[in-house]
Order: sequence, then C-alpha cells, then structure tokens
Amino acid sequence: MASASATRLFFSILPLHSSTSASAAAVKLFFNKYSNNYNMNNLIIRRRAHTHHFRTTTSTTTATSTSSKNEKKNIKTNKKKKKKKNREKEKRGAAVVSAAAAAAAESSLVKLKRRTRSNRVFELPEHLNHQQRQLLLHGGNSDTHFPVMLGEVLEVFHGYPQRPLLRSFVDCTLGAAGHSSAIIRAHPELQLYVGLDVDPVAHEKAKAYIDNVVNDGSGSTASDLKVITLLKNFKDIKSVLAEVDEKFLIDGVDGILMDLGMSSMQVNNAERGFSVLSDGPLDMRMNPQASLKAEDILNSWPEDEVGRILRDYGEENNWRSLQTKIVKARLKGGLHSTSELVNLIRGTTPKSVGRQGWMKTATRVFQALRIAVNDELKILEDSLYACFDCLSSGGRLAVISFHSLEDRIVKQTFLDIIDVGGDGNGIDEEERCIVKKGYEDKENDEEEAWIKQKIGGRNGIILTKRPITPCEEEETLNRRCRSAKLRVVQKV
Ligand SMILES: C[S@@+](CC[C@H](N)C(=O)[O-])C[C@H]1O[C@@H](n2cnc3c(N)ncnc32)[C@H](O)[C@@H]1O
Repeated sequence: MASASATRLFFSILPLHSSTSASAAAVKLFFNKYSNNYNMNNLIIRRRAHTHHFRTTTSTTTATSTSSKNEKKNIKTNKKKKKKKNREKEKRGAAVVSAAAAAAAESSLVKLKRRTRSNRVFELPEHLNHQQRQLLLHGGNSDTHFPVMLGEVLEVFHGYPQRPLLRSFVDCTLGAAGHSSAIIRAHPELQLYVGLDVDPVAHEKAKAYIDNVVNDGSGSTASDLKVITLLKNFKDIKSVLAEVDEKFLIDGVDGILMDLGMSSMQVNNAERGFSVLSDGPLDMRMNPQASLKAEDILNSWPEDEVGRILRDYGEENNWRSLQTKIVKARLKGGLHSTSELVNLIRGTTPKSVGRQGWMKTATRVFQALRIAVNDELKILEDSLYACFDCLSSGGRLAVISFHSLEDRIVKQTFLDIIDVGGDGNGIDEEERCIVKKGYEDKENDEEEAWIKQKIGGRNGIILTKRPITPCEEEETLNRRCRSAKLRVVQKV
C-alpha cells in the first residue's frame, strides 16, 4: 500500500514531460531506491513469518497453559512491534518520496531555466486567409502550414534602427513560404531573396506564393528585388550563392533562416509516409528524387545498423527488441507500409502502457527513420558551418529545431563556430556568457528586447544563450510548435 501510494504521489509531482533525461534519471533513482526497499522488506517479512510459524509448531508439542498464555502475550507484543515498524517504514517511504519530489522539482526548475519562453503576444500570421485563420483557431486537418514563432523570427531580422538593414536574405527551408513572405513584406529594403527546398511540391507552392507577394501591387517591395527560389538542398548554400552572384558569396548575406523538419503539407500527405496516424508507403524522403527510402532501411540494412538508428536517432529504449522483430519480419516479405510498421511497434510495446505508450514509441521510430533516410543530422551540422561562412559581418543565422538531437547539434556547432577560445571541448560556456545588462557593444548600444543573454566569441555572438520557445498561446493553437526551439548566432 505504502509503495502504491508513494508511486502515485511520485508521478503526480513529475514534470509534464517526464521523458526528458533529467526526469527519467529522477524516476530511475526513485524506483531503484524505493522498489529495492519494497522488495527487500517483503522478503524479510516473509522470512520472519516462516520462522515464527516453525517456532509455534515446535512449541505446541511441549505446551502448558501458562506457556500458551505467554505465547498469546508474545504474539500481541509482536503485532504491536510490527505495527510500529510499519509506521516507521511508511515514514521512511514518505521521506524518500519527498526527497524525490524535491529532486524532481529542482530538475524541472533547471529545465525551465534552460530555455526562454517567448513573451511576445501571439499574432495570427498576416498572410492567412479567413478560412486558414479559422482552421488555426479551431483546429482541424489542413494542408496549410503555419509558420512557427513567426513574430520571434521577424524580430530577429528586424533590428532596425539598432541594426543594419536587411538587404539580402536566404530561407533555407521554404516550405509553404510563411516565414519568407512575412520577411519580404517586412523588408522593403531587401534586394536579394533566395528560397531553397528539396521538396518539389513545397518549392512549387512557395514559388507561386512568393511571386504573388512580390507582384501584388502593394508596392512594399523594392523594384529591384531579385527573387530566386530553387529546388536545392541547403547543404549547397555556397554553390547556390556563387551561382546567383559571386558578390554575395564574398560579402555575405544579412540573414539566413533554417526552419527544420517537415511541413504540415508533408506530414498530412499519407503518400509521403511521414505520418504515424495514416497508412501509406514507407517512403519518408524529403526529396522524392533521392534513392533511399525508409523501407530500404527496414528490409535490407544490416541488423546492427537498424538497431543503431533506432537507438541513436530515435533515442528508443526498446530498440533491441524492435530491431529483432523488424529483421524477423523480413522472413515474411518485409515491411512496406506505415501501418505494418505501426502494428509491429504496437505488438512490441507492453500492453500496460496503452495507446500513449505505443504512439510515443512509433513517433520515435518514425523520427529515427526520417533522420536516416534524409541524413538530417550530418547535413545539419555541415550546413550550419556553411551558412555561417555565407553571412556578412553583423549578419544573423536563425535556426528553429524540433527535437533534442537537432537542438544539441545547433547549440554545440554555434559554440564551435563563434570560437569562445580556450581548448575546444573544455569551454566553460557559463563563464563566457555575457549577461545582457553588462554587455558592451559599441555598435549596438541599444539592445533588442528579445535578447536576454549572449555568448561572445572571436567569430561571432550567440544571441540566445538559452533557446527561445513559443509563447503559451501559440503552443495552445499550434500543437506542432510545442517542441520548437529557436537559436540565433550573429557574425562579428
Ligand atoms: C518546417 S518546413 C518549413 C516551413 C516554412 N518555414 C514556412 O514558413 O512555411 C521545412 C521544409 O524544409 C525542407 N527541407 C528539409 N530539409 C531540407 C534540406 N536539407 N534542404 C532544403 N530543404 C529542406 C522540407 O522539405 C520542408 O519543406
């Protein structure tokens, strides 16, 4: 009983996202401590009961009425002692629980401090029509992609009058051009706009939309604005700029945006194979011209490699048994549709964890496959260096990531890029952090309100020591943005 109520209490004090490593460690610590105590105590009680029974039966053979009275007395005293012991045990249990509660509360505080929730007032993106606004406000399955943290992104590139004008801008991930169109509208001084996407559907849609924005007659864009949209991978940013105009490769561009992951159009199209919830082929290619599909990995990659990607890219604890089942499925013709894969995952996930449990596992497995199919992590890391090289002096690179693996790469690569000095890995990030108030930047006397803490280096300044996350209202309206993290670096 004590254990059950302690367990309930522990879960009630766990932070909402208990799957994070800090909370997971707290859970592990708690259960190691508490469940070991519980099992050992059970064992001791059972052993004592056995000994007691043995003594009682031996004593009955030589019993007198006095000894039987004594025995009754003994039993009573033993019962009292046992009750006392149980009360003490419960107290000890409660102490463990409150210690665990304190640890969990502390870890959730630490977690809160590790990011800065945006305090902007959420505004509906200007470019949405009435129907799209209603969809965003009232939910529903749509083909529309809502740009994540749009207000925050505009603020990063706005800057004026504190900052130089934005004359050139590259959107590495066009998608539905939500961010791009807002940037073009907000910057009449813009002279070069380049938009990239590997997905031909996104590229076509975005191109048409941007043409419309530029030619809608509102006169807010510069007459000499050069607009170029290309079906290209952002890893090729340098060759793209060289092709557009060598000058931009040499002098650099003023702003670059990467809004990683998939667009709603991609997720909502079952044929692309990205969705856990709808049946489609096991494809998952961002670029349909690429040769590797998710089903190739599942049906023909070496067993160890399948396990590795589930473990490393999905951070899935159950990777070993999933790996075994996936490879076993090959004997029956392999896996070819998302629903076959989801059914396999459901069959591997313990029933006790319910729908939430297998859904989480399926999401992690799909994430792992998507990362492997598109080689996302390696491309991201290489492209961050390339993008920074393409910035002008004072230019900014903003990256929105959607899971911890991506965010870790952005964070570490930014630190490496700016070169905080010291001996590389031994960088004491905390020590080199510049708290906004004490920051001395002659060119930037008046600070922008969204910047809280910076990290300064030889080559640049990280403007987001802690990543910015969406405001509560946006989180409520757009589920997709919940895990979004925005980090920004500026070239010196
Ligand atoms: C989240 S969406 C971008 C949404 C966009 N910011 C908007 O406001 O509509 C991400 C887009 O990046 C594209 N993408 C992903 N990886 C890419 C890469 N390596 N190079 C170019 N585009 C990529 C995807 O095809 C997808 O269309």
